[in-house]
Amino acid sequence: MRIIINPNRSAGTINPNIYGHFAEHLGRCVYEGLWVGPDSPIPNENGLRRDVVGALKKLNIPVLRWPGGCFADTYHWRDGVGPVEDRKTIVNTNWGGVTEDNRFGTHEFMELCRQLGCQAYFSGNVGSGTVQEFSDWVEYCNMPGKSPMADLRRQNGREEPFNVRYWGIGNEAWGCGGNMRPERYADLCLQYATYLRDYSDAHIVKIASGSNGEDYEWTRKIAEIAGRAIDAVSLHYYTLPNDDWHHKGAATGFSREEYYATLKKTLRMKELVTEHGRILRKADPDGHLGLVVDEWGTWFDVEPGTNPGFLYQQNTMRDALVAALNLNIFNNHCDIVVMANIAQTVNVLQAMVLTEGTRMLLTPTYHIFDMYKGHQGARQVETYAETKLLSCGDWSIPDIHVSASESENGRILLTVVNLSDTDDAPLEVLSDAIGAGAAVTGTLLTGKSGDYNTFDRPDAVKPVAMTGIRVEDKRFTATLPACSVAAFEIARE
Ligand code: AHR
Repeated sequence: MRIIINPNRSAGTINPNIYGHFAEHLGRCVYEGLWVGPDSPIPNENGLRRDVVGALKKLNIPVLRWPGGCFADTYHWRDGVGPVEDRKTIVNTNWGGVTEDNRFGTHEFMELCRQLGCQAYFSGNVGSGTVQEFSDWVEYCNMPGKSPMADLRRQNGREEPFNVRYWGIGNEAWGCGGNMRPERYADLCLQYATYLRDYSDAHIVKIASGSNGEDYEWTRKIAEIAGRAIDAVSLHYYTLPNDDWHHKGAATGFSREEYYATLKKTLRMKELVTEHGRILRKADPDGHLGLVVDEWGTWFDVEPGTNPGFLYQQNTMRDALVAALNLNIFNNHCDIVVMANIAQTVNVLQAMVLTEGTRMLLTPTYHIFDMYKGHQGARQVETYAETKLLSCGDWSIPDIHVSASESENGRILLTVVNLSDTDDAPLEVLSDAIGAGAAVTGTLLTGKSGDYNTFDRPDAVKPVAMTGIRVEDKRFTATLPACSVAAFEIARE
C-alpha cells in the first residue's frame, strides 16, 4: 500500500487546540478523577490528584473545556467561589441526580489549568442563567483593575486576573441547553455576545453552541444571524456503534459488525466538518469563523453495575482507532477546525485515564494523544493513501487512514491507522522529503480490537517502538499489523 507525502501542499497550521479536552461535572470525572481535595490520603497538590495530573501533563493538553456539557446550563458560577464551607449545593439534574456541593469551582479549575499548563475554556450558562450572570463571570475572571467582580475575586484570594480566553455561549441549546429553535438561540447568542467584554488587549474568543451532528440548518442560521458577533461555532458528534440511544453497544466484548460500524460512523466526521465548514465560509466571506468540535468520541452503554448517569465506560483498541481517525480528520481540515475537545478526560465516555480509589490506568486513547502530540502547531502537509476497501455487511470502509505534518525544524510526523482487524498492511511511504540519509523512527499501538487495560493489567495495551522500518532514497517501508496505529517521525537527512 502506497502513501505519498507532499510537503509542498498544506491546508495550514494545525491549531494545537485540536488536541483539547473536556471535563464536566459528571460522574467521577471532576470528583475522584481529578479532584480529591487537599485532605485526601490520595497524593495531591492543592487537592488535585498527582498521578492523574502527572499523566495528563505529558499529553501537552492545550485547552480544557469546563464545567459542562449539559451541566453548564444549570451551573451558577457564584455558587463555586468563596469559602468552601459557605458554598451552596445544587442537584446535578442531568447526571445521576447527585448533590453537587460546589467544592470544585472557578479557582480550583484554574489551579488545574495552571498545573496542566493549559488554557481554560468556560461554557457559560445560557439555558437557565442570565446575561448579567455570564457577563459578571467574564469580569470576575478577566478584569485587572478595580471593579465589583474583580474585587470579589481578590476577596476570594486571587489578585491577578485569570485571563480566560475561550467562552462558550451555552451548550447544546437545541437540547439540554434550553430546547431552543435556532432563530431564538441565535438572537440570544447575539445578546450574550454583546455583554461578554474584553478587559485587556487580549481578545476573548466567543464560541456559539453548535449543531448536533448533521443539523446543517442550525449552523447556517447561527452563522447568518449571530456570525458577526462570535468567533466560532461548535459541533457535537459522538460515535455510537448502534443508533439506538438505549442500546448503543458495549464498550468491550463487541462483535466484528460493531467494530466496523464504529469505525464507519467515525469516518463520518470528515463529511461533517467539511459540510459545516462550507456553510460557515459561505455565511462568513471574511473567513473569521472557525469550527470548534467541542464534544467528540465514543459513547457506549455504561459498564455493567455502574450508575447509568455517570457514563463510565472501558476503552479498547477500537477507541484508539476512533481517536486516531478523528485526529487525522481534524489535522487534514485544520483550515476550518480550530479546536476540538474529546469527551471526556477522566472516567467519563472516551477517557484518557480511568481511576479506582488510589489506582489509575492509561487507556489506549491516552496513548494515541501521546503519539499524536507532535502534530500540535505543526504545518499540515498533504497525503495520499492508496487503500483497499474492507467490507462488512452491506458497506465498506478504506483500510488505511493518514495525516501528516511538518514541524518548524523540518521533521515530518506521519500518523497511519490500519483499520483491518485481520490483515497486516505493508506500507511503502514515498516523499521527496525522505533523503537517502533520512532517519525514520516509529511508535506503534496495536492489539486485538477488543483489548484494553485493567487496574490489574494496566500495560496490556501500550505503545512500542516500531521495528522493520527500511529507508531508501525518497521512500521507506514498514508493516502495520492489523488493528493498529503508527506514528512515524521522519528526520529529513
Ligand atoms: O458529554 C456528555 C454530554 O453529552 C454533555 O453533557 C452534553 O453536552 C452532550 O449531550
